[in-house]
Amino acid sequence: MALSRDIVLEALSRVIDPELRKPVTELDMVRDIEIKGNDVRVTIALTVAGCPLRNSFEEQVAREVGELPEVASVALAFDVMTPDERAALTSKLRGGRPETDEKSIQVDDTTRVIAVASGKGGVGKSTLTVNLASALSALGRRVGILDADIYGHSIPHMLGISQKPVLVDRMMIPPVAHDLKLMSIGFFLDDNAPLMWRGPMLHRALEQFLQDVHWGDLDVLVVDMPPGTGDVSISLGQMLPRAEALVVTTPQLLAQEVASRAAEMAKKTGMQLLGVAENMTSEVFGSGGGQRLADELGVRLLGQVPLNADLREAGDIGVPLVVSDPESESAQAVFEIAQAIDATRAAGFTQKLTLVS
Ligand SMILES: Nc1ncnc2c1ncn2[C@@H]1O[C@H](COP(=O)(O)OP(=O)(O)OP(=O)(O)O)[C@@H](O)[C@H]1O
Ligand SMILES: [Mg+2]
Repeated sequence: MALSRDIVLEALSRVIDPELRKPVTELDMVRDIEIKGNDVRVTIALTVAGCPLRNSFEEQVAREVGELPEVASVALAFDVMTPDERAALTSKLRGGRPETDEKSIQVDDTTRVIAVASGKGGVGKSTLTVNLASALSALGRRVGILDADIYGHSIPHMLGISQKPVLVDRMMIPPVAHDLKLMSIGFFLDDNAPLMWRGPMLHRALEQFLQDVHWGDLDVLVVDMPPGTGDVSISLGQMLPRAEALVVTTPQLLAQEVASRAAEMAKKTGMQLLGVAENMTSEVFGSGGGQRLADELGVRLLGQVPLNADLREAGDIGVPLVVSDPESESAQAVFEIAQAIDATRAAGFTQKLTLVS
Protein backbone atom coordinates (compact mmCIF):
# COMPACT_ATOMS: atom_id res chain seq x y z
CA MET A 1 0.00 0.00 0.00
CA ALA A 2 1.26 3.48 -0.84
CA LEU A 3 2.08 5.67 2.10
CA SER A 4 -0.55 8.33 2.65
CA ARG A 5 -1.29 11.14 5.03
CA ASP A 6 -4.20 9.15 6.44
CA ILE A 7 -1.99 6.22 7.33
CA VAL A 8 0.41 8.53 9.17
CA LEU A 9 -2.44 10.31 10.95
CA GLU A 10 -3.86 6.99 12.03
CA ALA A 11 -0.47 6.06 13.54
CA LEU A 12 -0.24 9.48 15.20
CA SER A 13 -3.60 8.89 16.86
CA ARG A 14 -1.70 6.43 19.07
CA VAL A 15 0.79 9.10 20.16
CA ILE A 16 -0.48 10.29 23.52
CA ASP A 17 0.46 13.49 25.32
CA PRO A 18 1.63 11.94 28.62
CA GLU A 19 0.24 14.75 30.74
CA LEU A 20 -2.97 15.55 28.95
CA ARG A 21 -3.48 11.85 28.23
CA LYS A 22 -5.05 12.44 24.87
CA PRO A 23 -3.82 11.66 21.33
CA VAL A 24 -1.89 14.46 19.64
CA THR A 25 -4.33 14.24 16.75
CA GLU A 26 -7.22 15.03 19.07
CA LEU A 27 -5.29 17.89 20.69
CA ASP A 28 -4.63 19.47 17.27
CA MET A 29 -0.91 19.24 17.90
CA VAL A 30 -0.02 17.77 14.49
CA ARG A 31 1.13 20.80 12.56
CA ASP A 32 2.49 19.19 9.47
CA ILE A 33 3.05 15.87 7.74
CA GLU A 34 5.42 15.70 4.77
CA ILE A 35 5.75 12.51 2.77
CA LYS A 36 8.51 11.89 0.23
CA GLY A 37 8.42 8.35 -1.07
CA ASN A 38 8.78 6.28 2.08
CA ASP A 39 10.22 9.05 4.22
CA VAL A 40 8.03 10.96 6.61
CA ARG A 41 8.56 14.20 8.42
CA VAL A 42 6.11 15.09 11.19
CA THR A 43 5.90 18.44 12.96
CA ILE A 44 4.25 18.59 16.36
CA ALA A 45 3.25 21.88 17.92
CA LEU A 46 4.06 21.90 21.63
CA THR A 47 1.91 23.88 24.04
CA VAL A 48 4.92 25.85 25.28
CA ALA A 49 8.49 26.17 24.09
CA GLY A 50 10.15 24.57 27.12
CA CYS A 51 7.80 21.60 27.14
CA PRO A 52 9.53 18.74 28.99
CA LEU A 53 7.73 16.06 26.98
CA ARG A 54 9.86 16.10 23.83
CA ASN A 55 11.55 12.80 24.59
CA SER A 56 8.29 11.04 25.07
CA PHE A 57 6.94 12.35 21.75
CA GLU A 58 10.15 11.38 19.96
CA GLU A 59 9.99 7.88 21.30
CA GLN A 60 6.30 7.46 20.54
CA VAL A 61 6.50 8.84 17.00
CA ALA A 62 9.52 6.65 16.24
CA ARG A 63 7.54 3.67 17.44
CA GLU A 64 4.10 4.35 15.98
CA VAL A 65 5.07 5.94 12.67
CA GLY A 66 8.59 4.55 12.28
CA GLU A 67 7.42 0.98 12.52
CA LEU A 68 4.73 1.22 9.86
CA PRO A 69 5.68 -1.22 7.09
CA GLU A 70 5.38 1.54 4.48
CA VAL A 71 7.79 3.86 6.30
CA ALA A 72 11.56 3.86 5.72
CA SER A 73 12.41 6.80 7.96
CA VAL A 74 10.65 9.26 10.19
CA ALA A 75 11.86 12.65 11.36
CA LEU A 76 10.14 14.65 14.06
CA ALA A 77 10.30 18.42 14.32
CA PHE A 78 8.79 20.63 16.99
CA ASP A 79 7.04 23.92 16.77
CA VAL A 80 5.16 25.93 19.37
CA MET A 81 1.46 26.71 19.41
CA THR A 82 0.35 30.23 18.67
CA PRO A 83 -1.62 32.07 21.38
CA ASP A 84 -4.81 31.39 19.42
CA GLU A 85 -4.05 27.69 19.20
CA ARG A 86 -3.34 27.61 22.91
CA ALA A 87 -6.61 29.33 23.67
CA ALA A 88 -8.44 26.82 21.47
CA LEU A 89 -6.69 23.97 23.27
CA THR A 90 -7.50 25.19 26.77
CA SER A 91 -11.11 25.68 25.80
CA LYS A 92 -11.20 22.19 24.33
CA LEU A 93 -9.68 20.75 27.51
CA ARG A 94 -12.32 22.49 29.56
CA GLY A 95 -14.82 20.57 27.46
CA GLY A 96 -16.14 23.73 25.90
CA ARG A 97 -17.10 25.11 29.31
CA PRO A 98 -16.08 28.69 29.86
CA GLU A 99 -13.52 29.50 32.51
CA THR A 100 -15.39 29.45 35.80
CA ASP A 101 -15.20 31.69 38.79
CA GLU A 102 -16.05 28.80 41.01
CA LYS A 103 -13.84 28.95 44.03
CA SER A 104 -13.05 25.32 44.29
CA ILE A 105 -11.02 22.62 42.74
CA GLN A 106 -11.99 21.74 39.17
CA VAL A 107 -12.74 18.04 39.11
CA ASP A 108 -15.60 16.07 37.63
CA ASP A 109 -18.62 15.23 39.74
CA THR A 110 -17.57 11.61 39.58
CA THR A 111 -14.05 12.17 40.91
CA ARG A 112 -13.60 11.07 44.49
CA VAL A 113 -11.60 13.47 46.62
CA ILE A 114 -9.77 11.81 49.49
CA ALA A 115 -8.19 14.17 51.99
CA VAL A 116 -5.36 12.56 53.93
CA ALA A 117 -5.38 14.42 57.21
CA SER A 118 -3.86 14.12 60.64
CA GLY A 119 -4.02 15.93 63.93
CA LYS A 120 -0.28 16.35 63.93
CA GLY A 121 2.81 16.48 61.70
CA GLY A 122 5.24 13.64 61.09
CA VAL A 123 2.75 10.77 61.29
CA GLY A 124 3.36 9.64 57.70
CA LYS A 125 0.64 11.54 55.85
CA SER A 126 2.77 12.19 52.78
CA THR A 127 4.16 8.65 52.73
CA LEU A 128 0.64 7.23 52.88
CA THR A 129 -0.60 9.70 50.28
CA VAL A 130 1.89 8.61 47.60
CA ASN A 131 1.62 4.92 48.39
CA LEU A 132 -2.13 4.93 48.62
CA ALA A 133 -2.34 6.82 45.33
CA SER A 134 0.00 4.27 43.73
CA ALA A 135 -2.07 1.40 45.13
CA LEU A 136 -5.32 2.89 43.80
CA SER A 137 -3.63 3.34 40.45
CA ALA A 138 -2.50 -0.30 40.48
CA LEU A 139 -6.13 -1.24 41.14
CA GLY A 140 -6.99 0.44 37.85
CA ARG A 141 -8.09 3.89 38.99
CA ARG A 142 -6.97 7.10 37.28
CA VAL A 143 -5.33 8.93 40.15
CA GLY A 144 -4.11 12.44 40.88
CA ILE A 145 -2.29 13.77 43.92
CA LEU A 146 -2.66 17.26 45.28
CA ASP A 147 0.16 18.14 47.63
CA ALA A 148 -1.54 20.84 49.60
CA ASP A 149 0.63 20.77 52.70
CA ILE A 150 2.01 24.27 52.54
CA TYR A 151 4.37 23.51 55.41
CA GLY A 152 5.77 20.27 54.05
CA HIS A 153 5.26 19.79 50.31
CA SER A 154 7.50 16.72 50.16
CA ILE A 155 5.53 14.82 47.54
CA PRO A 156 7.45 15.92 44.40
CA HIS A 157 10.59 14.46 45.97
CA MET A 158 8.83 11.24 46.96
CA LEU A 159 7.69 10.76 43.34
CA GLY A 160 11.00 11.88 41.84
CA ILE A 161 9.43 14.83 40.03
CA SER A 162 11.60 17.90 39.67
CA GLN A 163 10.16 19.64 36.62
CA LYS A 164 7.59 22.36 37.14
CA PRO A 165 4.14 22.05 35.65
CA VAL A 166 3.58 23.31 32.14
CA LEU A 167 1.45 26.41 32.08
CA VAL A 168 -0.85 26.79 29.08
CA ASP A 169 -2.31 30.24 29.37
CA ARG A 170 -3.67 30.13 32.89
CA MET A 171 -4.12 26.41 32.88
CA MET A 172 -1.61 24.39 34.92
CA ILE A 173 -0.95 20.90 33.60
CA PRO A 174 0.13 18.45 36.33
CA PRO A 175 3.33 16.52 35.60
CA VAL A 176 3.05 12.74 35.68
CA ALA A 177 5.20 10.09 37.36
CA HIS A 178 4.40 6.44 37.98
CA ASP A 179 1.11 7.11 36.21
CA LEU A 180 0.09 9.65 38.87
CA LYS A 181 -0.72 13.25 38.09
CA LEU A 182 0.77 15.60 40.64
CA MET A 183 0.18 19.19 41.54
CA SER A 184 2.12 20.58 44.46
CA ILE A 185 2.21 23.92 46.12
CA GLY A 186 5.93 23.18 46.38
CA PHE A 187 6.31 23.70 42.60
CA PHE A 188 5.65 27.38 43.19
CA LEU A 189 7.84 27.90 46.19
CA ASP A 190 11.48 28.59 45.61
CA ASP A 191 14.15 30.40 47.54
CA ASN A 192 12.20 33.61 47.44
CA ALA A 193 9.00 31.84 48.43
CA PRO A 194 6.15 34.21 47.74
CA LEU A 195 4.60 35.59 50.87
CA MET A 196 1.22 35.01 49.37
CA TRP A 197 1.16 31.54 50.86
CA ARG A 198 0.82 33.09 54.28
CA GLY A 199 -1.50 35.38 56.10
CA PRO A 200 -4.51 37.07 54.59
CA MET A 201 -3.46 36.38 51.01
CA LEU A 202 -3.42 32.68 51.65
CA HIS A 203 -7.08 32.00 51.03
CA ARG A 204 -7.05 33.83 47.70
CA ALA A 205 -3.82 32.20 46.64
CA LEU A 206 -5.18 28.75 47.44
CA GLU A 207 -8.32 29.46 45.46
CA GLN A 208 -6.32 30.62 42.48
CA PHE A 209 -4.05 27.65 42.70
CA LEU A 210 -6.85 25.09 42.91
CA GLN A 211 -8.95 26.72 40.24
CA ASP A 212 -6.24 26.76 37.58
CA VAL A 213 -5.14 23.13 37.69
CA HIS A 214 -6.33 21.00 34.79
CA TRP A 215 -6.88 17.53 36.23
CA GLY A 216 -8.60 15.99 33.23
CA ASP A 217 -10.39 12.70 33.78
CA LEU A 218 -9.68 11.35 37.24
CA ASP A 219 -11.35 8.68 39.33
CA VAL A 220 -9.64 9.70 42.54
CA LEU A 221 -7.77 12.74 43.77
CA VAL A 222 -5.72 12.11 46.90
CA VAL A 223 -4.91 15.26 48.85
CA ASP A 224 -2.04 15.60 51.31
CA MET A 225 -3.57 18.08 53.75
CA PRO A 226 -1.65 20.40 56.05
CA PRO A 227 -1.45 18.91 59.55
CA GLY A 228 -3.85 19.96 62.27
CA THR A 229 -6.97 22.01 62.03
CA GLY A 230 -5.62 25.52 61.57
CA ASP A 231 -6.97 28.15 59.21
CA VAL A 232 -5.13 26.68 56.26
CA SER A 233 -6.68 23.26 56.66
CA ILE A 234 -10.14 24.73 57.06
CA SER A 235 -9.77 27.09 54.08
CA LEU A 236 -8.49 24.30 51.94
CA GLY A 237 -11.09 21.81 53.11
CA GLN A 238 -13.82 24.21 52.08
CA MET A 239 -12.47 24.28 48.55
CA LEU A 240 -12.55 20.50 48.18
CA PRO A 241 -16.01 19.46 47.14
CA ARG A 242 -17.38 16.25 48.61
CA ALA A 243 -14.05 15.39 50.19
CA GLU A 244 -13.77 12.28 52.32
CA ALA A 245 -11.21 12.47 55.10
CA LEU A 246 -8.83 9.62 55.80
CA VAL A 247 -7.42 10.34 59.24
CA VAL A 248 -3.86 9.12 59.79
CA THR A 249 -2.59 8.41 63.25
CA THR A 250 0.33 6.66 64.90
CA PRO A 251 -0.31 4.01 67.55
CA GLN A 252 0.63 6.22 70.45
CA LEU A 253 -1.24 9.44 69.63
CA LEU A 254 -4.02 10.33 72.03
CA ALA A 255 -7.11 9.08 70.29
CA GLN A 256 -9.52 11.46 71.93
CA GLU A 257 -7.57 14.53 71.05
CA VAL A 258 -7.06 13.56 67.41
CA ALA A 259 -10.70 12.52 67.14
CA SER A 260 -12.10 15.77 68.33
CA ARG A 261 -9.88 17.71 65.94
CA ALA A 262 -10.80 15.52 63.00
CA ALA A 263 -14.48 15.82 63.82
CA GLU A 264 -14.19 19.58 64.12
CA MET A 265 -12.46 19.77 60.77
CA ALA A 266 -15.08 17.60 59.10
CA LYS A 267 -17.85 19.73 60.55
CA LYS A 268 -16.31 23.02 59.43
CA THR A 269 -15.55 21.83 55.92
CA GLY A 270 -18.49 19.52 55.24
CA MET A 271 -16.15 16.57 54.74
CA GLN A 272 -17.23 13.06 55.40
CA LEU A 273 -15.04 10.89 57.57
CA LEU A 274 -13.93 7.94 55.49
CA GLY A 275 -11.96 6.06 58.09
CA VAL A 276 -8.71 5.81 60.01
CA ALA A 277 -5.30 4.51 58.95
CA GLU A 278 -2.77 3.65 61.61
CA ASN A 279 0.84 4.16 60.55
CA MET A 280 4.14 3.07 62.10
CA THR A 281 2.59 0.13 63.90
CA SER A 282 5.43 -1.73 65.66
CA GLU A 283 6.66 -3.43 68.77
CA VAL A 284 8.20 -0.17 69.92
CA PHE A 285 5.27 2.12 69.29
CA GLY A 286 2.70 -0.61 69.80
CA SER A 287 -0.63 -0.73 68.04
CA GLY A 288 -4.21 -0.02 68.91
CA GLY A 289 -4.19 3.78 68.63
CA GLY A 290 -5.84 3.54 65.25
CA GLN A 291 -8.66 1.36 66.54
CA ARG A 292 -9.26 3.66 69.51
CA LEU A 293 -9.42 6.66 67.18
CA ALA A 294 -11.78 4.88 64.80
CA ASP A 295 -14.06 3.95 67.72
CA GLU A 296 -13.96 7.49 69.00
CA LEU A 297 -14.95 8.81 65.55
CA GLY A 298 -17.48 6.10 64.84
CA VAL A 299 -15.73 5.07 61.62
CA ARG A 300 -13.72 2.06 60.46
CA LEU A 301 -10.04 1.36 60.94
CA LEU A 302 -9.09 0.74 57.31
CA GLY A 303 -5.64 -0.67 57.97
CA GLN A 304 -2.37 -0.63 59.88
CA VAL A 305 0.92 0.08 58.12
CA PRO A 306 3.94 -1.36 59.94
CA LEU A 307 6.98 0.71 60.82
CA ASN A 308 9.49 -0.28 58.17
CA ALA A 309 12.58 1.46 56.87
CA ASP A 310 11.69 0.34 53.31
CA LEU A 311 8.94 2.94 53.21
CA ARG A 312 11.29 5.75 54.08
CA GLU A 313 14.02 4.61 51.71
CA ALA A 314 11.56 4.32 48.82
CA GLY A 315 10.38 7.85 49.54
CA ASP A 316 13.97 9.10 49.48
CA ILE A 317 14.66 7.45 46.12
CA GLY A 318 11.54 8.87 44.53
CA VAL A 319 9.73 5.62 43.80
CA PRO A 320 6.84 4.68 46.12
CA LEU A 321 7.30 1.31 47.84
CA VAL A 322 3.97 0.14 46.43
CA VAL A 323 5.59 0.50 42.97
CA SER A 324 9.13 -0.72 43.72
CA ASP A 325 8.21 -3.62 46.01
CA PRO A 326 4.47 -4.29 45.90
CA GLU A 327 4.86 -7.64 47.68
CA SER A 328 6.49 -6.15 50.78
CA GLU A 329 4.58 -6.21 54.04
CA SER A 330 4.16 -2.42 54.15
CA ALA A 331 3.00 -2.21 50.54
CA GLN A 332 0.50 -4.98 51.16
CA ALA A 333 -0.85 -3.08 54.17
CA VAL A 334 -1.34 -0.02 51.95
CA PHE A 335 -3.08 -2.14 49.30
CA GLU A 336 -5.48 -3.32 51.99
CA ILE A 337 -6.40 0.28 52.80
CA ALA A 338 -6.77 1.10 49.10
CA GLN A 339 -9.09 -1.86 48.62
CA ALA A 340 -11.16 -0.88 51.63
CA ILE A 341 -11.48 2.64 50.23
CA ASP A 342 -12.41 1.32 46.82
CA ALA A 343 -15.03 -0.92 48.38
CA THR A 344 -16.74 2.03 50.06
CA ARG A 345 -17.42 3.43 46.59
CA ALA A 346 -18.83 0.13 45.37
CA ALA A 347 -21.15 0.20 48.37
CA GLY A 348 -22.58 3.52 47.20
CA PHE A 349 -20.92 5.80 49.67
CA THR A 350 -23.25 8.73 49.67
CA GLN A 351 -24.88 9.16 53.03
CA LYS A 352 -23.43 11.57 55.49
CA LEU A 353 -21.71 9.88 58.39
CA THR A 354 -22.63 10.86 61.89
CA LEU A 355 -19.89 12.76 63.55
CA VAL A 356 -18.94 12.42 67.15
CA SER A 357 -17.53 15.64 68.44
N1 LIG B 1 5.45 3.15 58.24
C1 LIG B 1 6.60 3.79 58.23
N2 LIG B 1 7.73 3.16 58.52
C2 LIG B 1 8.92 3.80 58.54
N3 LIG B 1 9.09 5.11 58.25
C3 LIG B 1 7.99 5.80 57.95
C4 LIG B 1 6.69 5.20 57.90
N4 LIG B 1 5.80 6.15 57.56
C5 LIG B 1 6.50 7.29 57.38
N5 LIG B 1 7.82 7.09 57.63
C6 LIG B 1 8.89 8.08 57.61
O1 LIG B 1 8.61 9.03 58.63
C7 LIG B 1 8.92 10.33 58.22
C8 LIG B 1 7.65 11.21 58.25
O2 LIG B 1 6.74 10.72 57.27
P1 LIG B 1 5.96 11.69 56.32
O3 LIG B 1 6.85 12.74 55.79
O4 LIG B 1 5.21 10.85 55.37
O5 LIG B 1 4.96 12.28 57.41
P2 LIG B 1 4.04 13.56 57.33
O6 LIG B 1 2.91 13.29 58.26
O7 LIG B 1 3.72 13.89 55.93
O8 LIG B 1 5.02 14.62 57.94
P3 LIG B 1 5.01 16.22 57.80
O9 LIG B 1 4.10 16.67 58.88
O10 LIG B 1 6.43 16.58 58.04
O11 LIG B 1 4.52 16.55 56.44
C9 LIG B 1 9.50 10.22 56.83
O12 LIG B 1 10.89 10.17 56.94
C10 LIG B 1 8.96 8.88 56.34
O13 LIG B 1 9.81 8.29 55.40
MG1 LIG C 1 4.14 15.56 54.78
